Amino acid sequence: MKKRILSGAQPSGQLHIGNYFGMIERMVQLQESSDLFCFIANYHSMTSINNKSELEKNTKDAFIDLLALGINPDRSTFWVQSHVPEVAELAWILSNYASVGLMQRSTSYKDKIANGLKPNMGLFSYPILMASDILLFQSDSVPVGKDQKQHLEMTRDIAIKFNNSFGDVFTIPEIEIDKSNDVVVGIDDRKMSKSYNNTIPIFADNDTIKNQVMNIVTDSAGLNDPKDTNTPLFKIYSLFLDIDSKNELTDRYNTPGLKYMEIKEELVDTIISFFEQNKSKKEKLLLNIDEVDEKMRLGKSKAQKVAQQTLEKVKSATGLL
Ligand code: ADP
Ligand code: TRP
Repeated sequence: MKKRILSGAQPSGQLHIGNYFGMIERMVQLQESSDLFCFIANYHSMTSINNKSELEKNTKDAFIDLLALGINPDRSTFWVQSHVPEVAELAWILSNYASVGLMQRSTSYKDKIANGLKPNMGLFSYPILMASDILLFQSDSVPVGKDQKQHLEMTRDIAIKFNNSFGDVFTIPEIEIDKSNDVVVGIDDRKMSKSYNNTIPIFADNDTIKNQVMNIVTDSAGLNDPKDTNTPLFKIYSLFLDIDSKNELTDRYNTPGLKYMEIKEELVDTIISFFEQNKSKKEKLLLNIDEVDEKMRLGKSKAQKVAQQTLEKVKSATGLL
């Protein structure tokens, strides 16, 4: 049987190439080899968004963007988290198996508070909702970035405690920390992140993409000096190149006469053509919202089937039926 891999993405505004090469590309590829479960984590977003139209718009945009980038709802199970509210019921049940001490050690909670988010219970129990996402769908494996590792350890802790009391109800998920993809740098050489305003957005118009590429920081090496490849222009361009082309680019960096402007112009064309098909797919979806709604309904029905089976098992084991 194929391994069930689950991943959630918060709907948090314009996707950028850091999101693409850090996560989305991998999800799209995983659809071939595994039983992919992928959802838009809009309940989770309530910890940072408290505006109706913003939450609605971000959720739909995120769903459309992932469809346009290749998530295939016929092959995978792709849904909006709040369309399967069983996850909130399970989260309540699981909260009885999550120790307060464990939750208090959450570094992501502490970071978010330090960054000005209000310390409410939604934020505090975020890891329990995440555990519920993972356990409800009996996920074998959850590939995440380093920042999410502690959340997965908490999930395993809760699941093991529950199973010790009630038998093998939950699959204990493997933690798969994604080492293959390094952090994608932004145009200012920090981590690319919408919080730093240093991104290259995937679905922006060509002028915006050009503008962002032109703003990639470069050093002041002279025309005939060899150029440093450990720099954002080289690193960002490399994301789009296969090994041979990357070696060619390295040779050009080592050869006198290289002009950063020429590289930037090539990079603009490369980025635009790389995402051209995805952009036209997105335009088609925007003109056909009924089709998007249909795909949302399909995802809901596929995900809910699995969710209800697990919840039934949980309720039967705990005495809630
Ligand atoms: P942002 O930092 O722009 O707010 P998110 O935190 O919403 O991005 O990221 C969503 C997912 O995209 C993350 O789980 C991570 O896997 C991936 N991601 C985001 N930024 C990068 C980056 N610069 N490099 C690699 N992956 C990234
Ligand atoms: N917490 C994750 C993030 O901020 C999103 C998420 C929610 C998630 N539920 C999940 C990721 C379950 C993997 C599995 O990126």
